[in-house]
Amino acid sequence: MASALIIYGSTTGNTEMVANRIGEVFSDKGLSVVVKNVTDATVAELGNGHDITLLGASTWGDDAIEFQEDFDSFFQELDAANLKDKMVALFGCGDSSYEFFCGAVDELEEKMEKLQANVVNVSLRIDGDPDDAESEVVEWAEDVASHL
Ligand SMILES: Cc1cc2nc3c(=O)[nH]c(=O)nc-3n(C[C@H](O)[C@H](O)[C@H](O)COP(=O)(O)O)c2cc1C
Repeated sequence: MASALIIYGSTTGNTEMVANRIGEVFSDKGLSVVVKNVTDATVAELGNGHDITLLGASTWGDDAIEFQEDFDSFFQELDAANLKDKMVALFGCGDSSYEFFCGAVDELEEKMEKLQANVVNVSLRIDGDPDDAESEVVEWAEDVASHL
């Protein structure tokens, strides 16, 4: 059975909700899934023991891109992650009324390129309330699962 690790950082619960919904879609597809708050995750566990790693973070800040506060220190340590040639997918919640819509996802994409990770899908950027993006989330998760 293929397995997925989903790590998210979320302040008001939006990215957490998306992470859990992705996890449900994966489970329905017969995948083994671990969903973790970034506060319970370490960079050392990335790329080990799972076929794919999903990273999700919301974006904060006004004049500059700021990661969700719990995710920030994790991001700073990502250079040490063992993700070369490993399957990865990225997602996050944001609000397009801000200058840097889902800027945290942009930064994660750059980091994955630097680490030579294998990003399997176009990243998922949720604009506003994720409840309104249910079908978008499900479709994206199904696309990601199809790589496994
Ligand atoms: C003070 C503040 C700053 C924000 N800055 C951004 C931003 O720069 N870019 C963006 O896309 N969304 C921004 N947002 C929107 C949040 O990312 C959005 O509400 C998101 O759904 C929060 O997800 P979370 O509950 O998982 O943390 C901001 C929201 C607040 C309240």
